[in-house]
Amino acid sequence: MRRIAVLTSGGDAPGMNAATRAVVRTGALHGFEMFGVLHGYAGLIAGSFTPFGPRNVGGIIHQGGTILGTSRCDEFRTAQGQREAIEQICRKEIAALIVIGGNGSQTGAHALAAQGIPVVGIASTIDNDLVGTDVAIGTTTALDIALEAVDRLRVTASSHQRAFLVEVMGRHSGHLAAITAIAGGAEAVVVPEHLTDPENVAQQIRASRERGKSHAIVIVAEGAAHNAESLSRYFTEHAERLGFELRVSRLGHIQRGGVPGVFDRMLATQLGAAAVEHVASGAFDVLMGWRNGQIGATPLAEVAGRSKALDTRLLELANALAL
Ligand code: F6P
Repeated sequence: MRRIAVLTSGGDAPGMNAATRAVVRTGALHGFEMFGVLHGYAGLIAGSFTPFGPRNVGGIIHQGGTILGTSRCDEFRTAQGQREAIEQICRKEIAALIVIGGNGSQTGAHALAAQGIPVVGIASTIDNDLVGTDVAIGTTTALDIALEAVDRLRVTASSHQRAFLVEVMGRHSGHLAAITAIAGGAEAVVVPEHLTDPENVAQQIRASRERGKSHAIVIVAEGAAHNAESLSRYFTEHAERLGFELRVSRLGHIQRGGVPGVFDRMLATQLGAAAVEHVASGAFDVLMGWRNGQIGATPLAEVAGRSKALDTRLLELANALAL
């Protein structure tokens, strides 16, 4: 019986378990012998394969995180690390590997494919910066968590007529920040893709007060040149001149730990099933993603080492609606 191994890699994302479940069960239906790899590429190098049948993935569709475990594995970025991983795959007689993860993970998947390993990727990252998918597994749940926080902060911000700064995740991408700003009705948004002067943020807060608003919410991505720490320092130093103080909430990893919403469960399930279909039909070195309203495959060569650009129209919309 041919063997498929599945792993989750990089930052965990709500819906990874639903994808693992779909891969394992669809694989079993196709008559494959299924294995899980523990702790991402680190487990691959260590040869941590464990048999994964339909019962091993019961009761996980609603769980955040990943029951397989994950890692950010520097060793796998080296030629030696990849050689060791390939040796383990061959020793275990794995016919195909399915990699659930984001940018770095899919770059690694492509590196394996280039060395002859049949690999299919599944798009999963809360950052939503992966080329080949309009939205990745985990993104919408992470956004819902950020929005719940913003909605709650607005209540107290209005009561006290205060300005709040909310830092969301996104090391290199302002996608989470832009959507949180639009859907959360923020007064300003700061992203890594654009350099925003702190004085400019102050001006936006001041202007919103002059327009009669009782609160101000600023959304900042952690990877922005002026992130929460930097903006907070600036506002503290200039508090007297600016005439208001800025309270800071950093959401950080809270955004990653949510229960996957219906969109993520459905996306993960469909991508997982489609990944196995691709293995069954012998189509490899592709990323399964959601494009133009349907499941689609993109060559990993087009995905590896690249990041999806932020749609600047989102920023324009966020700023326009802050009126
Ligand atoms: O998975 C993406 C992400 O959540 C980024 O938004 C964030 O910058 C990074 O992971 C944090 O990584 P780690 O959990 O390894 O600190």
